[in-house]
Amino acid sequence: MAKHDVDPNYLDPNYEPVVNHSENTPFHEVLSTRMQRRTVMKGTVGAALASVMGLGLAGCGSDSDDDSTGDINAEARDPQATALGFKAVPVSNANTVVVPEGYTAEAFLPWGTPLTGSYPEFFADASNGGADQEQQVGMHHDGVHFFPIDLPAGGNSSSEGLLVMNHEYINQKALHANGPVKAQDNGGVRPADQVRKEIAAHGVSVVHIKRDGNGVWDVVRNGLNRRVTGGTEIDISGPLKGYSKLVTPFSPNATATRGTLNNCAMGATPWGTYLTAEENWHGYFANKGSRPKEQVRHGVGSASRYDWELADTGEDQYIRFDVTPVENGSAETDYRNEANTFGFMVEIDPFSPETNPVKRTALGRFGHEGVIFGPVEEGKPVVCYSGDDSRFEYIYKFVSDQPYYADTANGSLLDTGTLYVARFNDDGSGEWLPLSLDDAGFKAKVDAAAARGTVGGIGFNGFENQADVILNTRLAADIAGATPMDRPEWGAVDPVSGEVYFTLTNNSERLESQTNGANPVAGNTTGHIIRWTPAGDDHTSGSFDWDIFVFAGEQGTETVVDDQVIVALTDDNIFNSPDGLWFDYNGRLWIQTDGSDDAPYQNNMMLAANPVTREIKRFFVGPQGCEVTGVVTTPDSKTMFVNIQHPEKDWPFGTEGDHPRDAVVIVTRDDGGVIGA
Ligand code: FEO
Ligand code: CA
Ligand code: CA
Ligand code: CA
Repeated sequence: MAKHDVDPNYLDPNYEPVVNHSENTPFHEVLSTRMQRRTVMKGTVGAALASVMGLGLAGCGSDSDDDSTGDINAEARDPQATALGFKAVPVSNANTVVVPEGYTAEAFLPWGTPLTGSYPEFFADASNGGADQEQQVGMHHDGVHFFPIDLPAGGNSSSEGLLVMNHEYINQKALHANGPVKAQDNGGVRPADQVRKEIAAHGVSVVHIKRDGNGVWDVVRNGLNRRVTGGTEIDISGPLKGYSKLVTPFSPNATATRGTLNNCAMGATPWGTYLTAEENWHGYFANKGSRPKEQVRHGVGSASRYDWELADTGEDQYIRFDVTPVENGSAETDYRNEANTFGFMVEIDPFSPETNPVKRTALGRFGHEGVIFGPVEEGKPVVCYSGDDSRFEYIYKFVSDQPYYADTANGSLLDTGTLYVARFNDDGSGEWLPLSLDDAGFKAKVDAAAARGTVGGIGFNGFENQADVILNTRLAADIAGATPMDRPEWGAVDPVSGEVYFTLTNNSERLESQTNGANPVAGNTTGHIIRWTPAGDDHTSGSFDWDIFVFAGEQGTETVVDDQVIVALTDDNIFNSPDGLWFDYNGRLWIQTDGSDDAPYQNNMMLAANPVTREIKRFFVGPQGCEVTGVVTTPDSKTMFVNIQHPEKDWPFGTEGDHPRDAVVIVTRDDGGVIGA
């Protein structure tokens, strides 16, 4: 997320605090080794340029093994298959969506759209209460996926399906008719119905949609529509199920919790379910006492962002956001452990609205942006990747213990397996470090850290078991020696080559002394996109080869591989802070931004890239103040759904005085063709 100025709560500079003080610096040891694939940034960015070139000169020699373009699978691909057939759109600061000539964009499913139950009408003055919001589409649309309605029967409808999307957070001012009533102005409490509405505006919407004969999409009002909110009962599975540190008065046996929060990006599973990510969940809790390591390393502070724990009814569903241990209390009598039930990937089966969502804890507990699966093969483990979006945090991989079989696959595959964290070596190689006490190397590092008594300034006396490792995923990754990244956001897997791409959105706090091959820019304000190929094209492999796909920036920013300029950004494709990332079904890469909307970039945007040639063209520009996040098409690639989050004015309807409404944008080609081709 960005654009914190639309919501005064986000003015808090500690909103996304740097909580990794482990100073993992694996690169300093390898700077003198030969780089096999050297990707550097050149451009008009002053100090950043100098730092990158400095690293290159100090660390790099020439190499003869590498292919000259740095494109790992370049020779295997027909660049025409993923060519970009549209005319790039210019940057824009208009309060409207811009798409290329020959395309049409239409807003759909704005915040407040009636969705379930009595289908309560949305009032333009935002005077709907909490009960209405529980039956309406939530706010701040983010990750989105289209499930064809006939998918469970093996079909691939492009005219009817379940559109499932996240609602990451809220614009409190826009959510309520007259803005939020703050506790400090109201005797230390907040009106419970405002809190109820705020919790209900979070979570996920499952929307049954259908296209009519005129090509117009609408909601189908039936029982498949669903709201999962910050209050929905959710099961806990995997290694943290039943663990003592997840015991709460709500679930004394630590098997359930209520709600999913700050749902950013997502992942569609190979078995047709939706995984929603819990990103900046730490900010919803307050602990006025001393905080355990599983809160400190994740940024839980002494006050919560929205003061939900201060709801004036004092109901259990609200006071749980205060995780301060009560004197002489216990985990069964106060909510000291509530924050330990957040920070996960949460599985929702959109075709089974009667089933509880499930927190799949084996995928780790951190600031999950989303998750992306490697290609599945019969009889082989399932592999997925997930980034932790905070400055200097890590990229993770999960490999299931159980093999995948299409006929029987389900979410339980995600309950047992090994979680790994990435180390990017400067020579273009990388390793997956297991976070498992069964691994002798990891166990030895844990024991050494416990003997030192501290990890990155956080007191540490060891993990009591593997559940404790997963609860403290970030700390475990610090100990393993992972590479701190420039805020990993979305990942995407190339459907043709199997290469994995991740956006590294920005990290203005990276110092010169903290640069490395994979994060080579000091004060990285514009971000870059990294990618890797697993060794032997096997996603279960413990190693990989990486390179940098592109550095974002202004006109003239160059991505240089072994002294060749592979990308030089122009008016057609300048961008900053790449965030959303998705490979469409034909292998084109879609890049969405959540960055500065000052000149020269103006409003946030979406670009398309040809992964073979690295040609990049701007396809879409959002309205003022928004980020563009979440994209998917129907299986025929002819209808595209793009999410607009936190527009700042009267978008999309443009009536003076309107509350801004997050919405999906439907993009089609006027000739009915494939989007982007
Ligand atoms: Fe919710 Fe990292 O963006
Ligand atoms: Ca966001
Ligand atoms: Ca972002
Ligand atoms: Ca994001």
